[in-house]
Amino acid sequence: MMKKKIIVANWKMNYDLHETTFFLRNFLKYIKEKKICHNKEIIIAPSFPFLHISNQISQGTLLKIAAQNIFFKDKGSFTGEISASMLKSIGIDIVIIGHSERRKFFLEDENSLLKKLKIAIKHKIKVIFCIGETYEDRNKNNQYSIIEKQLNNTIFHCSPNEIKLIYIAYEPIWAIGTGVTATIDQITKMHYFIRNIFYEKYGNTISSKISILYGGSINHLNAKNIIYSNNVDGGLIGNSSLNLEQFVKIVQY
Ligand code: PGA
Repeated sequence: MMKKKIIVANWKMNYDLHETTFFLRNFLKYIKEKKICHNKEIIIAPSFPFLHISNQISQGTLLKIAAQNIFFKDKGSFTGEISASMLKSIGIDIVIIGHSERRKFFLEDENSLLKKLKIAIKHKIKVIFCIGETYEDRNKNNQYSIIEKQLNNTIFHCSPNEIKLIYIAYEPIWAIGTGVTATIDQITKMHYFIRNIFYEKYGNTISSKISILYGGSINHLNAKNIIYSNNVDGGLIGNSSLNLEQFVKIVQY
C-alpha cells in the first residue's frame, strides 16, 4: 500500500495572530472547496502563542498543528520554556525537534535533543526529528558519517515501539533557506542510506515504515519531483509554506 505523503510547514518565527488565522482559514476553505489533500498528511507548525487557536480552527479538518519546540523537563523553574503536558493540554501532539536553527542559535546539543525526544515520546507526542550535514561536511564527503552519528546519538536510543512515533526530516543545512535544493540524486542516496541503517538497527518492518522527509528550499516548482522520489515520504517546508498560493500548489501534488 502506498504511504500517505507528509507535508509539514515550518513557519519558524513568522506570522502574528491575524496572519496565522487568516492563512489557516483560507487554506482550509481552499482545500475543502477543491476536495484535495485526502491522500496526504498535512501539518502546519505556527508559533507557540497561536497553537491553541490554530488547533481550534483546524478541528474536524485533515490539517494537523505542530509545535516547533518542546522542553525536556515535565515542569519547574525553567523560565520561558514549554512542556509536553502544556502542549497536550491544548491538543497538540506533534513537535519538531532538532531543527538546525535550534542547534545553531540555541546551542541544542544531541544530549538535550535526546532528552526532548524521550519526553515527547513519553507523552505520546509525535516527533519530526531533523538531521542534516553542513556544507563543509558535504564538501569533505562526510555527509553519511555525520548523519549516522546524529542518529546514533539520538534516535537510535529509542526502542522499536518509540520509533513508531518518529518522522525523520533530512535537511542538509546548506539547503535550508538558501534557495539551493539538494539534487534528486543527493536526496535519494541519503534517504536510501538512512533507511538502510534503520534496517540494520531495527529490521525490515520498521525501516520500511519509517517516514523520511526531505527539507531545504522546497518550493512549488521543485516539490513534486522531490516528494515523489524514491525513499522520500514527504517534505518539510519553510519559506514557501508562508505563501498561501505556493503552499496550496505544493499540497496538491
Ligand atoms: P526552507 O526551510 O524551506 O526555507 O529551506 C526548511 C526548514 O528549515 O525546515
